[in-house]
Amino acid sequence: MNTRFLDACWGKPVDRTPVWLMRQAGRYLPEYMAVRSKCTFLELCKTPELAAEVTIQPVDILGVDAAIMFSDILTPVEPMGMKLDFVPGPVFEHPIRTMADVEKLRIPQMEQDVPYVLETLKILRRELAGKVPLIGFGGAPFTLACYMVEGKGSKDFAQIKRMMYAAPEVYSALMDKITTMDMEYLNAQIKAGAQAIQIFDTWGGILSPSDYETYVLPYTTRLINGLNRMETPVIHFVKGAGSMLEIVQKAGGDVMGLDWHVNLGIARDVLGPAMAVQGNLDPTVLFAPQATIEAEVKRVLDENAGRPGHIFNLGHGILPTAPPENAKFMVDCVHRLSQK
Ligand code: CP3
Repeated sequence: MNTRFLDACWGKPVDRTPVWLMRQAGRYLPEYMAVRSKCTFLELCKTPELAAEVTIQPVDILGVDAAIMFSDILTPVEPMGMKLDFVPGPVFEHPIRTMADVEKLRIPQMEQDVPYVLETLKILRRELAGKVPLIGFGGAPFTLACYMVEGKGSKDFAQIKRMMYAAPEVYSALMDKITTMDMEYLNAQIKAGAQAIQIFDTWGGILSPSDYETYVLPYTTRLINGLNRMETPVIHFVKGAGSMLEIVQKAGGDVMGLDWHVNLGIARDVLGPAMAVQGNLDPTVLFAPQATIEAEVKRVLDENAGRPGHIFNLGHGILPTAPPENAKFMVDCVHRLSQK
Protein backbone atom coordinates (compact mmCIF):
# COMPACT_ATOMS: atom_id res chain seq x y z
CA MET A 1 0.00 0.00 0.00
CA ASN A 2 1.22 3.49 -0.90
CA THR A 3 1.27 5.29 2.48
CA ARG A 4 2.97 8.46 1.24
CA PHE A 5 -0.20 10.54 1.60
CA LEU A 6 -1.02 9.42 5.15
CA ASP A 7 2.63 9.73 6.24
CA ALA A 8 2.72 13.32 4.98
CA CYS A 9 -0.55 14.11 6.82
CA TRP A 10 1.20 13.08 10.05
CA GLY A 11 4.30 15.12 9.17
CA LYS A 12 6.48 12.03 8.64
CA PRO A 13 9.25 11.97 6.01
CA VAL A 14 8.33 10.46 2.61
CA ASP A 15 10.26 9.18 -0.44
CA ARG A 16 8.53 11.72 -2.69
CA THR A 17 5.80 14.31 -2.23
CA PRO A 18 2.31 12.79 -2.36
CA VAL A 19 -0.19 14.42 -4.70
CA TRP A 20 -3.93 14.31 -5.42
CA LEU A 21 -6.31 16.85 -6.96
CA MET A 22 -9.44 18.33 -5.46
CA ARG A 23 -12.37 17.28 -7.70
CA GLN A 24 -10.11 14.69 -9.33
CA ALA A 25 -13.16 12.54 -10.12
CA GLY A 26 -15.14 14.65 -12.52
CA ARG A 27 -16.04 16.18 -15.82
CA TYR A 28 -12.55 16.84 -17.22
CA LEU A 29 -12.18 13.03 -17.59
CA PRO A 30 -13.90 11.45 -20.63
CA GLU A 31 -14.11 8.25 -18.58
CA TYR A 32 -16.24 10.12 -16.00
CA MET A 33 -18.46 11.61 -18.71
CA ALA A 34 -19.08 8.12 -20.10
CA VAL A 35 -20.50 6.95 -16.74
CA ARG A 36 -22.25 10.25 -16.06
CA SER A 37 -24.03 10.22 -19.48
CA LYS A 38 -26.17 7.33 -18.24
CA CYS A 39 -27.56 9.00 -15.09
CA THR A 40 -27.93 12.28 -13.22
CA PHE A 41 -25.25 13.55 -10.85
CA LEU A 42 -27.37 12.68 -7.79
CA GLU A 43 -28.10 9.19 -9.13
CA LEU A 44 -24.36 8.72 -9.56
CA CYS A 45 -23.78 9.79 -5.93
CA LYS A 46 -26.47 7.37 -4.76
CA THR A 47 -25.30 4.29 -6.72
CA PRO A 48 -22.32 2.89 -4.78
CA GLU A 49 -20.90 0.72 -7.60
CA LEU A 50 -20.84 3.71 -9.97
CA ALA A 51 -19.61 6.19 -7.35
CA ALA A 52 -16.78 3.76 -6.54
CA GLU A 53 -15.97 3.35 -10.22
CA VAL A 54 -15.54 7.08 -10.86
CA THR A 55 -13.58 7.46 -7.58
CA ILE A 56 -10.98 5.00 -8.84
CA GLN A 57 -10.69 6.46 -12.37
CA PRO A 58 -8.18 9.22 -11.47
CA VAL A 59 -6.14 6.80 -9.34
CA ASP A 60 -5.55 4.61 -12.39
CA ILE A 61 -5.41 7.38 -15.00
CA LEU A 62 -3.35 10.03 -13.19
CA GLY A 63 -1.37 7.94 -10.71
CA VAL A 64 -2.36 10.09 -7.69
CA ASP A 65 -1.44 9.04 -4.14
CA ALA A 66 -4.96 9.15 -2.66
CA ALA A 67 -8.56 8.55 -3.70
CA ILE A 68 -11.39 10.85 -2.61
CA MET A 69 -14.82 9.29 -2.38
CA PHE A 70 -17.18 10.51 -5.09
CA SER A 71 -20.14 12.35 -3.58
CA ASP A 72 -21.01 15.96 -2.81
CA ILE A 73 -20.86 18.13 0.31
CA LEU A 74 -24.64 18.60 0.05
CA THR A 75 -25.47 14.85 0.06
CA PRO A 76 -26.24 14.71 3.82
CA VAL A 77 -28.26 17.96 3.71
CA GLU A 78 -31.03 16.43 1.61
CA PRO A 79 -32.09 13.98 4.36
CA MET A 80 -32.19 16.90 6.83
CA GLY A 81 -35.39 17.68 4.96
CA MET A 82 -34.24 19.90 2.07
CA LYS A 83 -35.05 18.84 -1.45
CA LEU A 84 -31.89 19.19 -3.59
CA ASP A 85 -31.41 19.56 -7.33
CA PHE A 86 -28.33 20.12 -9.50
CA VAL A 87 -28.99 22.31 -12.58
CA PRO A 88 -25.95 21.91 -12.82
CA GLY A 89 -25.14 24.03 -9.71
CA PRO A 90 -26.92 23.00 -6.49
CA VAL A 91 -30.40 24.40 -5.80
CA PHE A 92 -32.58 24.02 -2.70
CA GLU A 93 -36.24 24.66 -3.46
CA HIS A 94 -37.01 26.00 0.03
CA PRO A 95 -34.03 27.82 1.55
CA ILE A 96 -33.74 28.30 5.32
CA ARG A 97 -34.84 31.79 6.38
CA THR A 98 -36.59 31.59 9.80
CA MET A 99 -36.30 29.85 13.18
CA ALA A 100 -39.29 27.69 12.17
CA ASP A 101 -37.31 26.52 9.11
CA VAL A 102 -34.36 25.60 11.35
CA GLU A 103 -36.59 23.75 13.81
CA LYS A 104 -38.01 21.61 11.01
CA LEU A 105 -34.55 20.31 10.03
CA ARG A 106 -33.84 16.81 11.26
CA ILE A 107 -30.53 15.13 12.07
CA PRO A 108 -30.30 12.16 9.68
CA GLN A 109 -29.70 8.61 10.89
CA MET A 110 -26.63 7.97 8.79
CA GLU A 111 -27.03 4.19 8.30
CA GLN A 112 -30.63 4.69 7.18
CA ASP A 113 -30.50 8.04 5.42
CA VAL A 114 -27.19 7.97 3.53
CA PRO A 115 -26.49 4.22 3.26
CA TYR A 116 -25.10 4.72 -0.25
CA VAL A 117 -22.26 6.93 1.05
CA LEU A 118 -21.21 4.34 3.63
CA GLU A 119 -21.57 1.51 1.10
CA THR A 120 -19.43 3.42 -1.43
CA LEU A 121 -16.67 3.73 1.18
CA LYS A 122 -16.85 0.01 2.00
CA ILE A 123 -16.61 -0.98 -1.67
CA LEU A 124 -13.72 1.43 -2.15
CA ARG A 125 -11.70 0.06 0.78
CA ARG A 126 -11.96 -3.40 -0.78
CA GLU A 127 -11.09 -2.19 -4.27
CA LEU A 128 -8.27 0.12 -3.18
CA ALA A 129 -6.62 -2.45 -0.89
CA GLY A 130 -2.89 -2.44 -1.66
CA LYS A 131 -3.22 0.75 -3.73
CA VAL A 132 -3.82 4.15 -2.13
CA PRO A 133 -5.62 5.52 0.96
CA LEU A 134 -9.24 6.66 0.84
CA ILE A 135 -10.31 10.20 1.77
CA GLY A 136 -13.84 10.91 3.03
CA PHE A 137 -15.13 14.47 3.17
CA GLY A 138 -17.80 16.91 4.22
CA GLY A 139 -18.59 20.58 3.89
CA ALA A 140 -17.69 22.81 6.84
CA PRO A 141 -20.78 24.01 8.73
CA PHE A 142 -20.47 27.55 7.32
CA THR A 143 -20.23 26.48 3.67
CA LEU A 144 -23.21 24.15 4.10
CA ALA A 145 -25.15 27.00 5.76
CA CYS A 146 -24.32 29.26 2.80
CA TYR A 147 -26.06 26.89 0.38
CA MET A 148 -28.94 26.12 2.78
CA VAL A 149 -29.71 29.82 3.36
CA GLU A 150 -28.95 31.23 -0.08
CA GLY A 151 -30.69 28.26 -1.74
CA LYS A 152 -27.99 28.18 -4.43
CA GLY A 153 -24.57 29.62 -5.22
CA SER A 154 -24.25 33.37 -4.65
CA LYS A 155 -22.07 36.33 -5.60
CA ASP A 156 -22.56 38.47 -2.50
CA PHE A 157 -23.91 36.01 0.11
CA ALA A 158 -26.33 38.69 1.26
CA GLN A 159 -28.87 36.24 2.74
CA ILE A 160 -26.48 34.31 4.96
CA LYS A 161 -24.74 37.51 6.08
CA ARG A 162 -28.09 39.17 6.77
CA MET A 163 -29.04 36.21 8.98
CA MET A 164 -25.63 36.28 10.69
CA TYR A 165 -25.86 39.99 11.57
CA ALA A 166 -29.62 40.60 11.86
CA ALA A 167 -30.91 37.28 13.25
CA PRO A 168 -27.93 35.84 15.15
CA GLU A 169 -30.14 33.47 17.17
CA VAL A 170 -31.45 31.87 13.97
CA TYR A 171 -27.92 31.70 12.56
CA SER A 172 -26.48 30.03 15.66
CA ALA A 173 -29.37 27.55 15.93
CA LEU A 174 -28.80 26.59 12.28
CA MET A 175 -25.01 26.31 12.64
CA ASP A 176 -25.46 24.19 15.79
CA LYS A 177 -27.71 21.74 14.00
CA ILE A 178 -25.44 21.51 10.95
CA THR A 179 -22.38 20.95 13.17
CA THR A 180 -24.09 18.06 14.97
CA MET A 181 -25.14 16.51 11.65
CA ASP A 182 -21.64 16.96 10.20
CA MET A 183 -19.94 15.32 13.18
CA GLU A 184 -22.17 12.27 12.96
CA TYR A 185 -21.79 12.15 9.17
CA LEU A 186 -17.99 12.30 9.21
CA ASN A 187 -17.69 9.83 12.11
CA ALA A 188 -19.93 7.44 10.15
CA GLN A 189 -17.54 7.81 7.20
CA ILE A 190 -14.55 7.02 9.43
CA LYS A 191 -16.38 3.95 10.76
CA ALA A 192 -17.16 2.85 7.19
CA GLY A 193 -13.49 3.02 6.20
CA ALA A 194 -12.43 6.59 5.35
CA GLN A 195 -8.70 6.85 6.20
CA ALA A 196 -8.54 10.65 6.19
CA ILE A 197 -11.20 13.36 6.27
CA GLN A 198 -11.19 16.62 4.35
CA ILE A 199 -13.44 19.45 5.51
CA PHE A 200 -14.26 21.85 2.66
CA ASP A 201 -14.92 25.44 3.75
CA THR A 202 -15.20 26.89 0.27
CA TRP A 203 -16.84 30.11 1.49
CA GLY A 204 -15.06 30.69 4.83
CA GLY A 205 -12.93 33.35 3.13
CA ILE A 206 -15.88 35.64 2.30
CA LEU A 207 -15.84 36.89 5.91
CA SER A 208 -13.48 39.33 7.60
CA PRO A 209 -10.96 37.63 9.90
CA SER A 210 -12.85 38.89 12.94
CA ASP A 211 -16.23 37.66 11.63
CA TYR A 212 -14.62 34.32 10.76
CA GLU A 213 -13.44 34.07 14.36
CA THR A 214 -16.88 34.97 15.77
CA TYR A 215 -19.25 33.21 13.38
CA VAL A 216 -17.36 30.23 11.93
CA LEU A 217 -14.44 29.19 14.14
CA PRO A 218 -16.50 27.96 17.14
CA TYR A 219 -18.50 25.56 14.99
CA THR A 220 -15.60 24.14 12.94
CA THR A 221 -13.62 23.75 16.19
CA ARG A 222 -16.47 21.78 17.78
CA LEU A 223 -16.75 19.66 14.63
CA ILE A 224 -13.05 18.78 14.46
CA ASN A 225 -12.87 18.14 18.23
CA GLY A 226 -15.78 15.73 17.92
CA LEU A 227 -14.23 13.53 15.23
CA ASN A 228 -12.73 10.11 16.02
CA ARG A 229 -9.37 11.05 14.65
CA MET A 230 -6.86 8.96 16.59
CA GLU A 231 -5.88 7.19 13.36
CA THR A 232 -7.61 9.45 10.87
CA PRO A 233 -5.99 12.76 9.94
CA VAL A 234 -8.22 15.76 9.28
CA ILE A 235 -7.48 18.20 6.44
CA HIS A 236 -9.10 21.60 6.87
CA PHE A 237 -9.43 23.56 3.62
CA VAL A 238 -10.72 27.11 3.93
CA LYS A 239 -10.61 28.88 0.59
CA GLY A 240 -9.38 32.45 0.98
CA ALA A 241 -7.79 31.84 4.40
CA GLY A 242 -4.38 33.28 3.48
CA SER A 243 -4.84 36.46 5.49
CA MET A 244 -6.12 34.71 8.63
CA LEU A 245 -4.17 31.44 8.88
CA GLU A 246 -3.41 31.84 12.60
CA ILE A 247 -7.14 32.16 13.31
CA VAL A 248 -8.19 29.25 11.07
CA GLN A 249 -5.45 27.10 12.64
CA LYS A 250 -7.21 27.41 16.02
CA ALA A 251 -9.96 25.12 14.66
CA GLY A 252 -7.49 22.23 14.96
CA GLY A 253 -6.92 19.50 12.40
CA ASP A 254 -3.72 17.94 11.15
CA VAL A 255 -3.34 19.47 7.68
CA MET A 256 -4.16 22.98 6.47
CA GLY A 257 -5.43 23.15 2.88
CA LEU A 258 -4.09 26.24 1.08
CA ASP A 259 -5.39 28.04 -1.98
CA TRP A 260 -2.99 29.76 -4.41
CA HIS A 261 -3.38 33.29 -3.00
CA VAL A 262 -0.84 32.55 -0.33
CA ASN A 263 2.86 31.69 -0.70
CA LEU A 264 3.18 28.15 0.64
CA GLY A 265 6.51 28.87 2.33
CA ILE A 266 5.13 31.90 4.16
CA ALA A 267 2.05 29.91 5.19
CA ARG A 268 4.31 27.21 6.65
CA ASP A 269 6.26 29.84 8.60
CA VAL A 270 3.01 31.16 10.08
CA LEU A 271 1.57 27.71 10.88
CA GLY A 272 4.76 26.22 12.35
CA PRO A 273 6.29 22.77 11.93
CA ALA A 274 3.58 20.86 13.80
CA MET A 275 0.95 21.37 11.10
CA ALA A 276 1.18 19.81 7.64
CA VAL A 277 -0.07 21.69 4.59
CA GLN A 278 -1.80 20.75 1.35
CA GLY A 279 -1.71 22.75 -1.87
CA ASN A 280 -1.47 25.05 -3.66
CA LEU A 281 -1.11 25.30 -7.44
CA ASP A 282 -3.51 27.64 -9.27
CA PRO A 283 -5.90 25.22 -11.10
CA THR A 284 -5.65 27.30 -14.29
CA VAL A 285 -1.93 26.48 -14.56
CA LEU A 286 -3.15 23.21 -16.13
CA PHE A 287 -4.01 25.25 -19.24
CA ALA A 288 -0.35 26.35 -19.62
CA PRO A 289 2.30 24.70 -21.80
CA GLN A 290 3.94 21.76 -20.04
CA ALA A 291 7.20 23.68 -19.48
CA THR A 292 5.21 26.26 -17.47
CA ILE A 293 3.38 23.54 -15.52
CA GLU A 294 6.73 21.99 -14.61
CA ALA A 295 8.17 25.37 -13.55
CA GLU A 296 5.10 26.10 -11.40
CA VAL A 297 5.26 22.67 -9.73
CA LYS A 298 8.93 23.32 -9.00
CA ARG A 299 8.14 26.75 -7.56
CA VAL A 300 5.59 25.28 -5.10
CA LEU A 301 8.00 22.47 -4.11
CA ASP A 302 10.75 25.08 -3.63
CA GLU A 303 8.49 27.17 -1.41
CA ASN A 304 8.04 24.10 0.79
CA ALA A 305 11.85 23.74 0.81
CA GLY A 306 11.94 20.05 1.73
CA ARG A 307 9.97 20.42 4.97
CA PRO A 308 8.11 17.21 5.95
CA GLY A 309 4.31 17.38 5.92
CA HIS A 310 3.52 18.66 2.43
CA ILE A 311 0.80 17.13 0.28
CA PHE A 312 0.77 18.58 -3.22
CA ASN A 313 -2.63 19.59 -4.60
CA LEU A 314 -4.32 22.33 -6.57
CA GLY A 315 -5.46 25.38 -4.61
CA HIS A 316 -9.08 24.55 -5.51
CA GLY A 317 -10.93 21.99 -7.64
CA ILE A 318 -9.70 21.04 -11.10
CA LEU A 319 -11.74 22.80 -13.78
CA PRO A 320 -14.03 20.74 -16.05
CA THR A 321 -12.15 22.14 -19.10
CA ALA A 322 -8.66 21.12 -17.87
CA PRO A 323 -6.78 18.79 -20.27
CA PRO A 324 -6.43 15.37 -18.56
CA GLU A 325 -2.96 14.86 -20.08
CA ASN A 326 -1.78 18.03 -18.33
CA ALA A 327 -3.19 16.82 -15.01
CA LYS A 328 -1.23 13.58 -15.47
CA PHE A 329 1.87 15.56 -16.44
CA MET A 330 1.52 17.66 -13.27
CA VAL A 331 1.29 14.54 -11.08
CA ASP A 332 4.38 13.07 -12.78
CA CYS A 333 6.28 16.36 -12.27
CA VAL A 334 5.52 16.36 -8.54
CA HIS A 335 6.83 12.81 -8.18
CA ARG A 336 9.89 13.32 -10.39
CA LEU A 337 10.96 16.69 -8.96
CA SER A 338 10.50 15.68 -5.32
CA GLN A 339 12.18 12.25 -5.57
CA LYS A 340 14.63 11.83 -2.65
O1 CP3 B 1 -13.07 15.76 -5.32
C1 CP3 B 1 -13.67 14.81 -5.83
O2 CP3 B 1 -13.32 14.29 -6.90
C2 CP3 B 1 -14.85 14.21 -5.10
C3 CP3 B 1 -16.13 14.70 -5.49
C4 CP3 B 1 -16.64 16.06 -5.08
C5 CP3 B 1 -17.67 16.71 -5.82
N1 CP3 B 1 -18.02 17.84 -5.14
C6 CP3 B 1 -18.26 16.21 -7.06
C7 CP3 B 1 -19.08 17.08 -7.90
C8 CP3 B 1 -16.33 16.88 -3.99
C9 CP3 B 1 -15.27 16.70 -2.93
C10 CP3 B 1 -17.23 17.99 -4.04
C11 CP3 B 1 -17.25 19.05 -3.02
C12 CP3 B 1 -18.09 20.24 -3.23
N2 CP3 B 1 -19.34 20.30 -3.77
C13 CP3 B 1 -17.75 21.54 -2.78
C14 CP3 B 1 -16.51 21.91 -2.03
C15 CP3 B 1 -15.32 21.95 -2.91
C16 CP3 B 1 -15.26 23.10 -3.83
O3 CP3 B 1 -15.16 22.85 -5.06
O4 CP3 B 1 -15.26 24.24 -3.38
C17 CP3 B 1 -18.81 22.40 -3.12
C18 CP3 B 1 -18.89 23.89 -2.86
C19 CP3 B 1 -19.82 21.60 -3.74
C20 CP3 B 1 -21.15 22.05 -4.22
C21 CP3 B 1 -21.29 21.81 -5.66
N3 CP3 B 1 -21.48 20.57 -6.24
C22 CP3 B 1 -21.34 22.75 -6.70
C23 CP3 B 1 -21.17 24.25 -6.50
C24 CP3 B 1 -21.53 22.05 -7.89
C25 CP3 B 1 -21.75 22.61 -9.26
C26 CP3 B 1 -20.66 23.43 -9.74
C27 CP3 B 1 -19.98 22.76 -10.86
O5 CP3 B 1 -18.78 22.45 -10.70
O6 CP3 B 1 -20.66 22.56 -11.88
C28 CP3 B 1 -21.58 20.69 -7.59
C29 CP3 B 1 -21.73 19.57 -8.56
C30 CP3 B 1 -20.64 18.56 -8.59
N4 CP3 B 1 -20.02 18.00 -7.49
C31 CP3 B 1 -20.06 17.96 -9.78
C32 CP3 B 1 -19.12 17.04 -9.34
C33 CP3 B 1 -18.28 16.10 -10.19
C34 CP3 B 1 -20.52 18.23 -11.20
C35 CP3 B 1 -21.76 17.45 -11.41
C36 CP3 B 1 -21.93 16.84 -12.77
O7 CP3 B 1 -21.33 15.79 -13.08
O8 CP3 B 1 -22.76 17.41 -13.51
